[in-house]
Amino acid sequence: MKVDILLGLQWGDEGKGKIVDYLAPKYDTVARFQGGPNAGHTLEFDGIKHVLHQIPSGIFRENILNIVGNGVVLDIVIFKDEIEKMASFDFDVKERLVLSKKTQLILPTHRLLDAAYEQSKGDKKIGSTLKGIGPTYQDKIARLGLRVGDILAPNFRDRYDALVAQHCRILDSYNFEYDLTEVNAKFFEAVEFIKGFCFVDGAYFINGRLNEGHSVLAEGAQGSLLDIDFGSYPYVTSSNTTSAGACSGMGVAPNKIGRVYGIFKAYCTRVGSGPFPTELFDETGKELQNVGNEFGATTGRERRCGWLDLPALKYAAMINGVTEMFMMKADVLDGFEEIKVCTAYKLADGTLTDEMPFDIDNEEFEPVYETLKGWNQTLVGRDNYEALPQELKDYVKYIEDFTGVKINIVSVGPDRTETFIREEIEVK
Ligand code: GDP
Ligand code: IMO
Ligand code: MG
Repeated sequence: MKVDILLGLQWGDEGKGKIVDYLAPKYDTVARFQGGPNAGHTLEFDGIKHVLHQIPSGIFRENILNIVGNGVVLDIVIFKDEIEKMASFDFDVKERLVLSKKTQLILPTHRLLDAAYEQSKGDKKIGSTLKGIGPTYQDKIARLGLRVGDILAPNFRDRYDALVAQHCRILDSYNFEYDLTEVNAKFFEAVEFIKGFCFVDGAYFINGRLNEGHSVLAEGAQGSLLDIDFGSYPYVTSSNTTSAGACSGMGVAPNKIGRVYGIFKAYCTRVGSGPFPTELFDETGKELQNVGNEFGATTGRERRCGWLDLPALKYAAMINGVTEMFMMKADVLDGFEEIKVCTAYKLADGTLTDEMPFDIDNEEFEPVYETLKGWNQTLVGRDNYEALPQELKDYVKYIEDFTGVKINIVSVGPDRTETFIREEIEVK
């Protein structure tokens, strides 16, 4: 069997949680491979809305094993909280979830460092979720980090204290004030809690499952334009959010990857700082924000909104090797007589390009738009793709022609059931 990957093609919050939950019954394993509690993945079913930060979005489906892969950075305090919030559901999370021993731990001081670094950047701040993501990946690369499996080592506390002491020296150099008493206590409560979970060697575990004929869906976090290498650097997150990250974040070889599902909204949003070529600062932007309820699932911050950026989408499809796309939140465009899409960027010397400029923050360019006819009617009551208005199908076709990638799912609402698939997916 192969690993199929689902990942975001924009700046995150495309609806990954909803679609992983929708597709999960086709698979028997769901794995997170990067990111951490900066993610907020929303699932809605049976009138319940649930936001997951670190637990893979296959957790609510029966007979599926979920795995937190080695590429993830795990905050065990937030993890404990997430698990405890699920107590009202009628299943034992421990039976459905395993953790890779090689997953890096987010320490409370990583969160403080995140805040100290952001504060020092002034108006150049990234707009981080302040969950300690950047500093934890920094320590991983610097070969200083602590991993889930280390929790079981007899000298774990000493190693923890040594790393914290190092962090404190940095915090002091930033004149950043902190008190570790409470956060340390919470961390070690979570250490005891997490010992009740099954720790695995993720690479052997996932490859073993593939060899035994089990299928795996890898769940991306963030989005391609937040990728550390290919995103709008430096306004990015600190991991490879793109498909290559799934190989290193789970320990599977590239030839084990099957389909790559790329998910995008029918328009664009971004939360945090950084360039956003098609951002709208007018009433239309506000309308997208209100109708789309565009407020962050992790931080509650307002999401900036704008029209769909096709050069960016095509770029994301290219770097991920996307095999099919899923278009989300089509219903948010219901009230528009006209819909704009960015088809090119006009550079300072007047030339047009459909390639993303090297430095989208500082290079001078403006988006060039094409105006398409909106469907201007509600999608409520439609129950399959064919029943959708012609203008919406034309919009889908336009995007497919531009990117050269088929759109196989159109989502018209947050609930599991509000999902129209054009061609059933056969998992191999
Ligand atoms: P993720 O981070 O990619 O999982 O996405 P988020 O959960 O952060 O944000 C997506 C938001 O859009 C959530 O509130 C979802 O419930 C909601 N959503 C998902 N699909 C649709 C859709 O097709 N229409 C509407 N209106 N909302 C949707
Ligand atoms: P999901 O998985 C949207 C953004 C932050 C900030 C930048 C860096 O829900 O799509 P970080 O905390 O990673 O150092 O922040 O990345 N960001 C997200 N934006 N969705 C996310 O995750 C995000 N995770 C991080 O707002 O601009
Ligand atoms: Mg989100």
